[in-house]
Amino acid sequence: MTHNIKVIDQLDLQDKRVFIRVDFNVPLADGRVADPTRIEAALLTIRHALDHGAKVILASHLGRPKGERNPDLSLEPVGIALADYLKVKVKLAPDCIGPEVERMVGAMKSGEVLLLENLRFHAGETKNDPDFARSLAKLADVYINDAFGTAHRAHASTEGMAHFVPERGAGFLLQREVDYLSRVLTNPERPLIAILGGAKVSDKIPVIQNLLHLVDALLVGGAMAYTFLRSKGQQTGRSMVEENQISLANELLSAAKDRGVSFLLPTDHVVADNAEEGSTATTVQGQIPNEKIGLDIGPDTIGAFEEEIGKARTIFWNGPMGLFEIKPFDKGTMAIAAALADSQALTVVGGGDSVAAVNRSGRAGDFSHISTGGGASLEFLEGKKLPGLAALE
Ligand code: 3PG
Repeated sequence: MTHNIKVIDQLDLQDKRVFIRVDFNVPLADGRVADPTRIEAALLTIRHALDHGAKVILASHLGRPKGERNPDLSLEPVGIALADYLKVKVKLAPDCIGPEVERMVGAMKSGEVLLLENLRFHAGETKNDPDFARSLAKLADVYINDAFGTAHRAHASTEGMAHFVPERGAGFLLQREVDYLSRVLTNPERPLIAILGGAKVSDKIPVIQNLLHLVDALLVGGAMAYTFLRSKGQQTGRSMVEENQISLANELLSAAKDRGVSFLLPTDHVVADNAEEGSTATTVQGQIPNEKIGLDIGPDTIGAFEEEIGKARTIFWNGPMGLFEIKPFDKGTMAIAAALADSQALTVVGGGDSVAAVNRSGRAGDFSHISTGGGASLEFLEGKKLPGLAALE
């Protein structure tokens, strides 16, 4: 953690109202938590606060209700899942601000947990409205931000309220995220490589621009590779290409060349007539025929990427190598997940899809760090100062 941000274990929590901003923006299915990863990731901080005599007030957003109450986006299922982990009662407040919530907080004893209702039921949250931020701050003696996944948002609960609470600091999850991502950005062990995939080049331009100053090699797969290949004059058939990004893609390739960064693109492709389960997949070298869609990297590309991964000492991965949700187009992504898991390098993964792929590979335990933040980890690696972090300084 940076020297000017305190961490929760440096703060006195005894009998204090400790407001912890967590990122419980988790997927739900049939009214239950479908993936508890983000809840599990916050437990260390919550348990620490409970063990140190705090009255723990938890706050999060869930989905994007746009300032309206939406019962489908209530945090109730999260409270139920959390109580199971903590083995203590988790009370759900009917709202996140207002007299009733203040009364409930006023009645809390040390060692109790109150979960506030979805912050984004109020428009003031995403607008970072100072009055809304003050209403949240009224509930707290100590403000802890442990919501790394939302640290790139300057919202009332991640940024605004931090200025109105007497004591503030980071939770252990935020600390761990910043420590690992900083090891990629600052004095990484070399070779440092980044593996980027996913559908769109446009989502990744700022991070590529920043990484080109840092990495020894950039490996690009996923549909975004087709825009780069087109910019080199290659045929990409019916594969997804962002026409309006072709010239920028070409500029990025030249910038990499000027800086001596190896920029590896797929040399062979798994293609099909349709992006559907059961489609017949074939492998082509180089040019993709007119009627075909590229849906995964081919075996030669996997081999070349594995070779780079084998040499690297620090690796950052964001984005799948193909349409990994649909078989047989998952092989490239799964091979990269396995190569990273086998590697002795520092391995850091960010982004919902690549994290899902790592979990599916069953090798999550073999990675140095799996980020809970997709957008946040990318913005961190873009070199941006995240508002949620800046507010803690
Ligand atoms: C996320 O899931 O990426 C974070 O919780 C942020 O959510 P948002 O993109 O709706 O701000």
